[in-house]
Amino acid sequence: MNSRTYLLMLAVSFTGMQEARAAQAAGDAAVGQVLYQAKCAACHAMQFNGVGPAHLGVVGRKAGSVDGYIYSVALSKSDLVWNEKLLDAWLRNPEKLVPGQKMGISIPSARERAHLIAYLKTLKVDR
Ligand code: HEC
Repeated sequence: MNSRTYLLMLAVSFTGMQEARAAQAAGDAAVGQVLYQAKCAACHAMQFNGVGPAHLGVVGRKAGSVDGYIYSVALSKSDLVWNEKLLDAWLRNPEKLVPGQKMGISIPSARERAHLIAYLKTLKVDR
């Protein structure tokens, strides 16, 4: 291969890397779905309450407001409305965001949180 071809290949793979990085920063819903199955589905489902409340439509919803789910007093009185920023803070450290809440896990990786939130955003209810 001559050096020109080599440079061209380098440029192409660099562009690919940039794109991958952009997807990462924004969060990738498909990756988020896999993470959700691994890290959230033990306690959460879309349509029904389990150990944790149902998640369908969670982005844009008032915290602690799913009918029939018994929340901690702390979360039901929190007055939060879930958006990307608050979900990120919740997943990073629920107890710091809402002291007295009762979700016992956290997601230390910012990248994983971004993927998970991208996935949660796809779960919209038709209103
Ligand atoms: C061990 C069980 C468990 C796991 C695993 C778990 N959760 Fe939870 N989650 C809970 C419980 C319990 C609550 C209710 C907290 C409260 O009432 O204080 C909750 C509440 C929430 C809420 C607030 C919902 C609302 O209606 O206000 C969000 C958002 C949430 N969880 C996201 C997640 C995500 C995303 C994952 C996976 C990364 C996850 N949870 C994993 C148990 C869990």
